[in-house]
Amino acid sequence: MYLKSIRTLKEQDEVLYKPGSTGPESVYWVFTDITQGKWINMTVITSGMYGEEFPKTYGHYHNTNVNEIYHVIEGQGILLMQKGYPEVTDIVLVTLKPGDEVTITPEWGHALSNIGETPLVTFDNWNSGHTQADYDPIKKVSGMACFLLKGENIAKIALNQNYGDLPTPKFMTAEEFKKYA
Ligand SMILES: [Fe+2]
Repeated sequence: MYLKSIRTLKEQDEVLYKPGSTGPESVYWVFTDITQGKWINMTVITSGMYGEEFPKTYGHYHNTNVNEIYHVIEGQGILLMQKGYPEVTDIVLVTLKPGDEVTITPEWGHALSNIGETPLVTFDNWNSGHTQADYDPIKKVSGMACFLLKGENIAKIALNQNYGDLPTPKFMTAEEFKKYA
């Protein structure tokens, strides 16, 4: 197992709800070759806040026709899924707890937020790597279709105004998403 990448706040500023927000300098770490079996990568997302916004991964689409599986090890998260690009036809917020597993098919762009008070730790089986082309659609519109902010319930949602008309985001558990997708 080795450390593959660290995403810094500086690199992530362009996709924040409020660019210029301060918070933990390292947002998330990706370790790879974590097991010899099903799981390839481990992502650890910091706890803390960037202003009102929860720490999150940058967000990306896959440019290959392969499914990705996320498995939650520790913490409390939300997997933001948005279908299609540039027109987004569906937005699902999958609430995650340890033991949950979510399969992401190629049409869904995705980003993971840590909504808990401890680091969020996930395993995934993605061994196809990433190119800048996976991140460019998100970079172009300064983030995913919505931002997850601290609210009274699970999270408060702010829509990204750089997209056209967006569908209303739906909250689901991992179990519900399995039947839905
Ligand atoms: Fe992915």
